[in-house]
Amino acid sequence: MAKTGFGVDVGGSGVKGGVVDLETGELIGDRIKLLTPHPSTPEAVAKTVAEIIRQAEWDGPVGITLPSVVTGGVARSAANIDKGWIGTDARALFSDALGGRRVTVLNDADAAGMAEDALGAGKDAKGVVILLTFGTGIGSAILHNGVLLPNTEFGHMEVDGKEAEHRAASSVKEKKDLSYKEWAAEVSRVLTRFENLLWPDLFIAGGGISRKHEKWIPHLTNRTPVVPAALLNTAGIVGAALAVETGIAP
Ligand code: BGC
Repeated sequence: MAKTGFGVDVGGSGVKGGVVDLETGELIGDRIKLLTPHPSTPEAVAKTVAEIIRQAEWDGPVGITLPSVVTGGVARSAANIDKGWIGTDARALFSDALGGRRVTVLNDADAAGMAEDALGAGKDAKGVVILLTFGTGIGSAILHNGVLLPNTEFGHMEVDGKEAEHRAASSVKEKKDLSYKEWAAEVSRVLTRFENLLWPDLFIAGGGISRKHEKWIPHLTNRTPVVPAALLNTAGIVGAALAVETGIAP
């Protein structure tokens, strides 16, 4: 039997979970998706996560992502979720809501980066891999030969007087009604800064807009190769499951 784990990905609009085959990164059975409660307070989200685990009839350890910096199981920031998360011991909260079981909590982009690096678009890559998720903001993960440096928050790096995510998140493309080519110029600008500081061997572009990669990746002007994410909307779930099973707890 395949070795399995369970991951839950908490986002601004949905909370998604599923059983993951840890060797292939495929989901076994259905992905369960519930709406993120509003307001998305820690207690309300913990109830939603518990409901997913109940529906899945899963009784093992659980990996859970948050759109937050997470250190020692404690959420330190809150992007697109209730500000009540800041300072919350998320690991203790989720563990209590799940009958005291073992829980790992990590940043959403870190989870996606671990999954893509191990089992997705970066599985054959060596050296330094940076995954960026382009969505409402920009999430980031950096790995060196498979080892994650957690909580990098490159989306908040200032690039030519503006935060990177205020230039090149996919929400900016929508808000300013930019063409793919215009938006790609901003993405190139942001990636140029990252590549000059971090010298990655590969960028992986994630987030919903990576589905349309053929419309914008060819316009990028960076020296580092950029490939679209392979796991797309399951990367967070897969990475969360990997994190709890490998014992990684940023
Ligand atoms: C947050 C990150 C998060 C990313 C994607 C950013 O605004 O600061 O922690 O990973 O959005 O949700």
